[in-house]
Amino acid sequence: MNNFTFYNPVKILFGKGQIAAIKDEIPAGARVMITYGGGSIKKNGVYDQVIEALKAHTVLEFEGIEPNPHYETLMQAVDIAKRQKIDFVLAVGGGSVIDGTKFIVAAMAYEGEDPWDILAKKAPVTCAVPFGAVLTLPATGSEMNSGSVITRVETQEKLAFGSPFTFPKFSVLDPETTFTLPLRQISNGIVDAFTHVLEQYLTYPVNAPLQDRLAESILLTLKEEGPKALQNPKDYDTMANFMWCATMALNGVIRVGVPTDWATHYIAHELTALHGIDHARTLAVVLPSLLRYKHETKREKILQYGERVWGVDAGTVDERIEATIQATIAFFESLDINTRLSDYEVGEDTVKLIVQRFQERGVKNLGERADIQIDDVEQILMASL
Ligand code: NZQ
Ligand code: ZN
Repeated sequence: MNNFTFYNPVKILFGKGQIAAIKDEIPAGARVMITYGGGSIKKNGVYDQVIEALKAHTVLEFEGIEPNPHYETLMQAVDIAKRQKIDFVLAVGGGSVIDGTKFIVAAMAYEGEDPWDILAKKAPVTCAVPFGAVLTLPATGSEMNSGSVITRVETQEKLAFGSPFTFPKFSVLDPETTFTLPLRQISNGIVDAFTHVLEQYLTYPVNAPLQDRLAESILLTLKEEGPKALQNPKDYDTMANFMWCATMALNGVIRVGVPTDWATHYIAHELTALHGIDHARTLAVVLPSLLRYKHETKREKILQYGERVWGVDAGTVDERIEATIQATIAFFESLDINTRLSDYEVGEDTVKLIVQRFQERGVKNLGERADIQIDDVEQILMASL
């Protein structure tokens, strides 16, 4: 096992009725800005619960953080929050609202000239305004990590940042808030969480059996609970299990002491940036081709994954690897997630454009062995057409 440092200060308030508890988590006297998306929280009672919980606080609202949150929108929030002397922000929504809020709180405290540098130049975030979250969509794990992915519409860039200052102080995970999710978002959430686990698990063995089995337990639970969530999105226990899986998939626990890949995410973000395809769907397109392309260096872990998660235990090594990739594709497709670029009307011209953008950005050394270069990205994407 590799050396590691593990730090995760996020307090989780899990279960029915927990939104009411936020009043004790936000400092009395704080000037709070609530950030949210396009209004789903007003239709399912989440907004009302938040307002009720914060009736003793001074509250301001910022509405309209879009999916794949836009830098342009978030900078408006930064401007308002600074003028209004906001000292606590509460994100209420899915990964986009939480990610957007992480950027808002980092940009509010940023002392450099241009907050875009946090994303484009990896300018360090050295402090941030404190924030909490009320999660309404199990998928990204943003509620219990410090990462964030922001899109700049002007340049069609989708870039990530993270810092020890952008962990939420607390996150409420009430499964009842998910009862209004469209099936499309449930499918997205399952595939996103599943891929998060695979990016931290399908690498190479370092003799870390606990991390392996933790990863496999999340995969197996998603495999069981995911289809149930689609069939019965108002079943509390199913949604509770799905929600906790998605959080555990990317809160840092399964990553400790093992190599991680993240090339699928890095490449897939380009497809969202250029074509607005839902994040999870871009992962479902890139992952199978990447696994096939890198099957030699990932061999042992793919075989283990195939056997322990999909029961693939017969045939030659090559046959087992292919059967495992096929099982993964079949799972995604069973959730109504297409796995080829052509399904999204994306062609070779986009592959060329991504290659060009990576060249301009000087992208190199992706993957757990830092051996995926731009030519490899091109071949992976061509195989996804
Ligand atoms: O905007 P509203 O009206 O709230 O509607 C949202 C949005 O249209 C809707 N929704 C959310 N909760 C709902 C609901 N509708 C009905 N009932 C509810 N309870 O769902 C739509 C999608 O929301 P969004 O937040 O965009 O989805 P998701 O949580 O999948 O987040 C995706 C974003 O997270 C980033 C992605 O790149 C993408 O930008 N990621 C963040 C990560 C992180 N911070 O660690 C890791 C991930 O890999 C990912 O990259
Ligand atoms: Zn993801």
